[in-house]
Amino acid sequence: MDNSLIINLAEKYGTPLYITDLDIVEKNYRKIESSFKKYFNKLKIFYAMKANYNPFILKLLKSLGSGIDAASPYEFILAEKIGFNGKDISFAPPNASKEELNVASIYGVDTLILDSLDMLENSKGLRFKNYGVRINPSIEAGFSEKVMTGKAYSKFGVDISSFNKLIEKSKEIGIEINGLHAHIGSGILDEKPYSILIDKMTKIFDNLSKKDFIDIGGGFGYNYMTGEHIDTDKIASVINDKFPYDKELRIEPGRYLVVNASILISRVNGVKEIDGRKKYVQIDAGMNSLIRPALYNAFHRIKLLNENGDIEEKYDVVGPICESDDYIALDVRLKRPKVGDYIAILDVGAYGISMASNYNLRPIPAEVILKKNNVVGIRERDSLENIVGKYKGLDNL
Ligand SMILES: Cc1ncc(COP(=O)(O)O)c(C=O)c1O
Repeated sequence: MDNSLIINLAEKYGTPLYITDLDIVEKNYRKIESSFKKYFNKLKIFYAMKANYNPFILKLLKSLGSGIDAASPYEFILAEKIGFNGKDISFAPPNASKEELNVASIYGVDTLILDSLDMLENSKGLRFKNYGVRINPSIEAGFSEKVMTGKAYSKFGVDISSFNKLIEKSKEIGIEINGLHAHIGSGILDEKPYSILIDKMTKIFDNLSKKDFIDIGGGFGYNYMTGEHIDTDKIASVINDKFPYDKELRIEPGRYLVVNASILISRVNGVKEIDGRKKYVQIDAGMNSLIRPALYNAFHRIKLLNENGDIEEKYDVVGPICESDDYIALDVRLKRPKVGDYIAILDVGAYGISMASNYNLRPIPAEVILKKNNVVGIRERDSLENIVGKYKGLDNL
């Protein structure tokens, strides 16, 4: 993205501001699709919309042929509003009430991924076309302990010893399981965990009486330091080596598709120096706008858009939230910024705006959507009215 375009957008829409380039999402989609299509003619891609539920992204991915991996009813309802139909939707909640599962069946959701025996019980009497079981394969993979969803004893999925119990139970209640699912972690940077996973999954798959699909989940990573995606050709190849069926392979990329499509623009409110040793750049985007650094110690590259000083110095880039962990980047080398300068935080398309909050009553940032360098849409910044207007009855106190 061009610096002057970014600064113009920041002046027009204010900061913090997410800017998303749909052309990058399209490029990422085409890349992962071509990697897997080489080997799997029955490939289905379900975009994990938790990474970024921006409706413009959803509409673009729909036009490219993607389906949706939904983690909550709110997600598949939005997807259906955008034009996805039930057959394009796989609902894989970490847990769900009977009422939520009922909503899924009313909305015609095609695939339900069962995470537990109780979810199976809760779905009694409802009908889905496909039932997958999410297994916990006991594999440690992901960029942080906090996102290793497939490690032993994690809250996700059914452990291998409970799997047979679930199959027995499904037979008792007349539900036919026809697929296997796993999602082992996020931000995986090499193909090895997928190779181990497919080994474990095919062994269990053979025990199903109806075998229609294997879903290996998402997790396809991105190197935030170099700006490179994981090599999806290698993943597709190792899975192909161990996938002896002419069956449907499903993948659920989230981060991969959107990570480098967005930047977050923020303004410098102050520069603080302590004893000439410790230096902070205080910006208007904090953990309320982008929680990944505070939550996972995640790294994001930072770019100063108006470079004016000559010597580089080391700064911690921190936000306006009353928390010590409210930082965006630590020990970054920058030419001395000044109040009013703009800073771009790179690679925030995944789990950026979708995890933003109103903490300290700050508004969730505005978003600008670009296609071919033209603004095609915006999401307005929250107003105080739409945040606090939801409280009713204050006058009764
Ligand atoms: C079931 C499931 N599928 C896919 C994903 C997407 O993961 P990623 O964004 O790392 O590709 C997630 C993320 O939490 C998930 O829980």
